[in-house]
Amino acid sequence: MSGTAPIGVFDSGVGGLTVLEALRRALPGERFLYLGDTARLPYGTKSEPTVRQYAVNAAAHLVARGIKLLVVACNTASSYALDAIARVVDVPVVGVVEPGVEAALATGARRIAVAGTEGTVASGAYQRALAMAAPGLEVRAVPCPLFVALAEEGWGDHPVTDLVAREYLGEVLGWGAEAIILGCTHYPLLLPSLRRVAGPDIRLVDSASAVAAAVGRVRFERNEKGGGTVHLLLTDGSDHFLRVARTILGETPQDLELVHLEPGGVS
Ligand code: DGL
Repeated sequence: MSGTAPIGVFDSGVGGLTVLEALRRALPGERFLYLGDTARLPYGTKSEPTVRQYAVNAAAHLVARGIKLLVVACNTASSYALDAIARVVDVPVVGVVEPGVEAALATGARRIAVAGTEGTVASGAYQRALAMAAPGLEVRAVPCPLFVALAEEGWGDHPVTDLVAREYLGEVLGWGAEAIILGCTHYPLLLPSLRRVAGPDIRLVDSASAVAAAVGRVRFERNEKGGGTVHLLLTDGSDHFLRVARTILGETPQDLELVHLEPGGVS
């Protein structure tokens, strides 16, 4: 694949933009093709076969457009479908779970909570990866489904989010978690509220820069002249998406295209 080809990044919605931003900082010479599957969001409340079908479908679309590497910037898709995606695409694939685990271990915490979508928690992907990387860790995982809607709403610093976070995280805070993995790429958008609720001493682990570092270790032909440009593909258009995108990327994405994904089968 030619070095000038873009890096593909996908998520169900705006959450993956937190990863895209870290990638642009780490690889400023590259071009990016970002797919937000907004028509089918949320992924986190859907069953494994459905998420696998959506994720493979989105990955195949990006590959058909000529990407040279794929970042699955969605924990639910990474947890349920990374293997299925890797089987059907012919470019290197980087998910977010392994880098998230790496970032959590780097904090030195031994009692680790994972906050994620219902799907990510039910898949056990983080629990398995943490147990394999460092046996003897104490791990608890909590589903926080409303966080995705709050992030999509742009309520990252909001009393309603504080209230919801207290409800979801109260138990692991009481348990004495030393670190909480933000195991959904939407959750870093809620950092002001999450920090208020968790207090100053708990590490809130955002895997975005660890994902960028993992991409940096992959062998692919680099582009020095892409300038970090982003072409945005959405399966459903909304002003709302653009508003949140502007706060993350620091600019309103201009290069926007609506796409329709034909569902394809997956085993
Ligand atoms: N951002 C996605 C993740 O990291 C999920 C959001 C959703 O439920 O669609 O899991």
